[in-house]
Amino acid sequence: MEEIQKTRELLLEKLESLEEKRSILRAPELRALYGKIKDQPEDQRSAYGQAINQLKQDLENIVSDIGLKTIDNRHPIDVTAPFDVNAALPELLPTENGTIHPITAEIEKITDIFYRMGFEVSESREIDDEYHMFTSLNFPEGHPARDDYDTFMTEEGFVAPAHTSTMQNRIIKARKEKLEDGESIAVLAVDRVFRNEDLDARHEHTFHQAEGIYVGKNITVGNLVATLKTFLTTYFGKEVQTKITPFYFPFTEPSFEFSLSCPFCEDGEDCRVCSSERWIELLGCGMIHPNVLKEAGVDPEKYTGFAWGCGIERLVMMRYNIEDIRHFNSGKLAFLRQFK
Ligand code: DAH
Repeated sequence: MEEIQKTRELLLEKLESLEEKRSILRAPELRALYGKIKDQPEDQRSAYGQAINQLKQDLENIVSDIGLKTIDNRHPIDVTAPFDVNAALPELLPTENGTIHPITAEIEKITDIFYRMGFEVSESREIDDEYHMFTSLNFPEGHPARDDYDTFMTEEGFVAPAHTSTMQNRIIKARKEKLEDGESIAVLAVDRVFRNEDLDARHEHTFHQAEGIYVGKNITVGNLVATLKTFLTTYFGKEVQTKITPFYFPFTEPSFEFSLSCPFCEDGEDCRVCSSERWIELLGCGMIHPNVLKEAGVDPEKYTGFAWGCGIERLVMMRYNIEDIRHFNSGKLAFLRQFK
């Protein structure tokens, strides 16, 4: 009997650390007790056997109790729930571990500057058509300049816009009445654009552009330069020199490439960012082509305007001296956390 009591204590202790509680009922110590019944004096055999059965029954009850408790802890089953409420709740990371993506944060700053300069801010589209990508922008059908844009297309002929200029026609058309009321059209459209091109430190297949559009009376290249210069001085927080050089875009006439004095150059020192050129090409711009205005229902004899398209990643890379555009989408926490 003493032996049974000892085994009881031993098994209860063992049970504590057992993962699969029910296996205690198959413990060799318990089986050994049964083996000893036959060694008991005859008049005690029956009591001995009953005591072992009692121990087994007690263990059985304890194991079932533990099982029930585990089930009780679970959520009640709601069969109408749209997701599995019985699954463990997701462990959420503390929100202070997250950061706003640097591109999102910079888009906020950029749009805020233009908003304060009187520009409306709108989005572009991430799927568009050939008319807005090319035709409305004075790219004649079959014109070789269409090939310059490495445009992704779907089999149905839809377009993943390669630039935010796809919004020019829509933006001008929707606001042309403002011009008759003596107001100007001033809009900044920001969004993602896509290009089927080889990737390297300066080229990504997916990046962001900010398209600026301004149309009104007597608008000149001087207004274009002043607008961009004011923006860049505010964004970089210091005076920058700008330079325009002639270029070609079908949707502007004249067209320019807009460069700014390298903000990283120290007097006379070698500069890694601009290879000591002292100028960095930043964006394409120009006076909106009369055909683009006409296509949007605006009389180019009465109104003129300017537009530009600026790659946001390139601008942000310049501001923070980031050497590789691929960092932005790399998911590298060490990179992202620098902008916390
Ligand atoms: N859409 C051009 C590009 O992505 C950039 C550009 C050039 C936009 C001139 C404009 C513009 O609005 O007037 O290469």
